[in-house]
Amino acid sequence: MPSKAPVVVAITGGAGQIAYSLLPPLLSGSVFGPDQPVKLQLLDIEPAMTALSGVVMECEDLAYPLYAGAVGTSDPMVAFADADYAIFLGAFPRKEGMERKDVMEKNVGIFNSQGSALKGAKPGVKCLVVGNPANTNAAILASASGVPKENITCLTRLDHNRARAMVAIKAGAAVDAVSGVIIWGNHSSTQYPDVRHATVEGKKVLDVLASDWLEGEFVTTVQKRGAAIIAARKLSSAASAAKAICDHMRDWVQGTGDGFVSMGVFTDGSKYGVPAGICYSLPCKCAGGEWTVVDGLPIDDFSRAAMDKTKAELEEELELAKSLL
Ligand code: NAD
Ligand code: LMR
Repeated sequence: MPSKAPVVVAITGGAGQIAYSLLPPLLSGSVFGPDQPVKLQLLDIEPAMTALSGVVMECEDLAYPLYAGAVGTSDPMVAFADADYAIFLGAFPRKEGMERKDVMEKNVGIFNSQGSALKGAKPGVKCLVVGNPANTNAAILASASGVPKENITCLTRLDHNRARAMVAIKAGAAVDAVSGVIIWGNHSSTQYPDVRHATVEGKKVLDVLASDWLEGEFVTTVQKRGAAIIAARKLSSAASAAKAICDHMRDWVQGTGDGFVSMGVFTDGSKYGVPAGICYSLPCKCAGGEWTVVDGLPIDDFSRAAMDKTKAELEEELELAKSLL
């Protein structure tokens, strides 16, 4: 029997498809550590309670030694009580004919009320927002919860993994031979996947792969990958999203070691010409449970223009969200 006290992990959208792929690795020890017991507090909406009870049964049936219990609830206060970590999967999806403003209005409501309930979590609760629009939902959560901004992040690791895998495939290399890719900005089609600081098998990606591909098809394919998966599957990415969530949380909790990764984090206005107060994906290193931005990378004109475009979209989204608060 493990001797450590369990960490409490709250997950919203617990009956959804990402959660279904996410819960087994969270309980396996691969994210929070091989000797770290995990208690799950799963939140979903009332109509999903029967499905959620089945998910709880399956968590038991996984029979992982680190399993320290699972609760399914529609009450955010129960879900976030004493949470050490909170992963926000549940959000309102854009439906046919809906305006961006209508979707944002729904999400402002959800993240505002979940932000209030988050007050019952542990003071140092670490939050990861995945539900779209992830960066702006994170900003709403930050303003509603009072959780320090350094403890609220959003997921751009899936985009990072997509960029890394795409370079590896094009170069005919193993994915772990690619390092230094960066996703800048919004988890949306304006994101900028940057390989100007990346290497493959120790060589600069810019010297190995053609620049017209790197500045053209590569960028647009990564930007539109989520939409391409929805078009093909009629569902959004789930296995790869769950893997990216595990990568993000593991690195945040256990550290990144030598390399750096992409995380949506709140800016302080001092780096890369990004103004303070937006949740913008940046190159980060993690150690001791804290992230820091990798500063001082040279930015050329091509990158600057792409970074500014995604920044402008985030500023606009945030203005819209604020007007609905
Ligand atoms: P899903 O529809 O399968 O599951 C979402 C779940 O959230 C559902 O069970 C739903 O009932 C629940 N939910 C809705 N409103 C809720 C609320 N107010 N409180 C608690 N639960 C609520 O969706 P999914 O495929 O699991 O994706 C979840 C979200 O993640 C979507 O917004 C999707 O667009 C987003 N996503 C983000 C990334 C990323 O990289 N940031 C990647 C993939 C998917
Ligand atoms: C993804 O990148 O796969 C998702 O964010 C797409 C989506 O809109 O759910």
